[in-house]
Amino acid sequence: MNPTTKSTPIDYQIVSQKIKDSKLDSPGKASIREMKKLIDDIEMATGEKFVRMEMGVPGLPPSKIGVEAEIEALKKGVASIYPDIYGIVPLKTEASRFIKLFMDIDVSPEGCIPTGGSMMGSFAAFMTLNRCNPGKDTTLLIDPSFPVHRQQLRVLGQKLEAFDVYNYRGDKLRDKLESYLSKGNISCLLYSNPNNPSWICFTEKELKIIGDLCNKYDVIPIEDLAYFAMDFRRDMSKPGVPPYQPTVAKYTNNYILTISSSKAFSYAGQRIGMMIISDELYNRSYPSLKKYYTKDLFGHSMIYGTIYSISSGVSHSAQYALAAIFKAANDGEFNFVEEVKEYGEKARIMKKLFTENGFKIVYDKDEDEPIADGFYFTFSYPGFTGEELLNELLYYGISAISLAITGSERLEGIRACVSMVRRDQFNDLEYRLKRFKEDHPSK
Ligand SMILES: Cc1ncc(COP(=O)(O)O)c(C=O)c1O
Repeated sequence: MNPTTKSTPIDYQIVSQKIKDSKLDSPGKASIREMKKLIDDIEMATGEKFVRMEMGVPGLPPSKIGVEAEIEALKKGVASIYPDIYGIVPLKTEASRFIKLFMDIDVSPEGCIPTGGSMMGSFAAFMTLNRCNPGKDTTLLIDPSFPVHRQQLRVLGQKLEAFDVYNYRGDKLRDKLESYLSKGNISCLLYSNPNNPSWICFTEKELKIIGDLCNKYDVIPIEDLAYFAMDFRRDMSKPGVPPYQPTVAKYTNNYILTISSSKAFSYAGQRIGMMIISDELYNRSYPSLKKYYTKDLFGHSMIYGTIYSISSGVSHSAQYALAAIFKAANDGEFNFVEEVKEYGEKARIMKKLFTENGFKIVYDKDEDEPIADGFYFTFSYPGFTGEELLNELLYYGISAISLAITGSERLEGIRACVSMVRRDQFNDLEYRLKRFKEDHPSK
């Protein structure tokens, strides 16, 4: 769709030329990295700064506690020594304490295993879980989801099924989920909570439905906690004090959690996260595993088979960093939630600017409660598909990504990430959204 006027906040001719140069059929269908490159080129050519909402990178400085612990460890010489693949003891101990104090669940340090970002945790989980039972070879993604999880399954050559949860919130989730799990081919399912891209958070009722059905059909949930405690509607920042980070672990004894340090601790660059395997699953025997591993035990196979094959452990110094971050949070000396609340504050203001100018929030509720303000939100504009809207917003200096690449069925939707938008850009954003509305009066 072309702008109704050739006078747009960002020079119309230059934007058109750069889109042509990019050789993208339609920028609205581009991947996150392709979109980033196109915006870099337009910014360079016009000298104008975009309101950049395409990439989910932390916009805050890294946790100081982590950096200092890591420097200290490097000075002591850990760089020359292979770390044990199951993780250093202080990290395992503090991780186990962390999930007790912030989730109120019990997992032995043994099952708390460092991974190269939580992405490696899900990769290792898919690889191992889909080998446990001969008939169970398919992963179910509860969409919308982070596109890289799809990519992981694709490169592993594993089967996947998926559904968009938009129309299946609350009690409706039960029948929908059961229609997949009851077929018997699903080994595991994955969802993120809070969710990337929509920032929906499952309610206790929904987590119970997931846990109960996983028990009934012996399916292992992989709960992706990339945005740990970042549902800012509830203060989950106090160790040992409710409310806690909600989790499926309250409803089943067989689960894997992936905990990222990237967003909650602004530690994305060091690529460290934790895979938490419940005690029951860790000690479970699956005879089929012997085809690939030396033992039939799940935890042993995960560590000495899968993780050993992928990376033989995780950066030694980064393990000391994460151990120190967890310890400070556990001891009540580091309020990590307070540090990242800024994302929620920015989202509240930005969502208001969008909705005041005719845009709609697409995923807007958790059952009957308005969704939280956080790292992402989703929006649409009447009369536009997501792809058309993304293409058009380029002329207004606003960039984001389409929900189409996340498994969402809301093809009118766009994902906006607030992290890279600075508060001093809010005036620009408001002006550009106003201009967009004037140029595109909704029917
Ligand atoms: C839902 C989700 N899972 C995992 C990740 C990646 O986490 P990590 O950096 O720990 O690999 C992200 C990052 O954006 C994410 O949004």
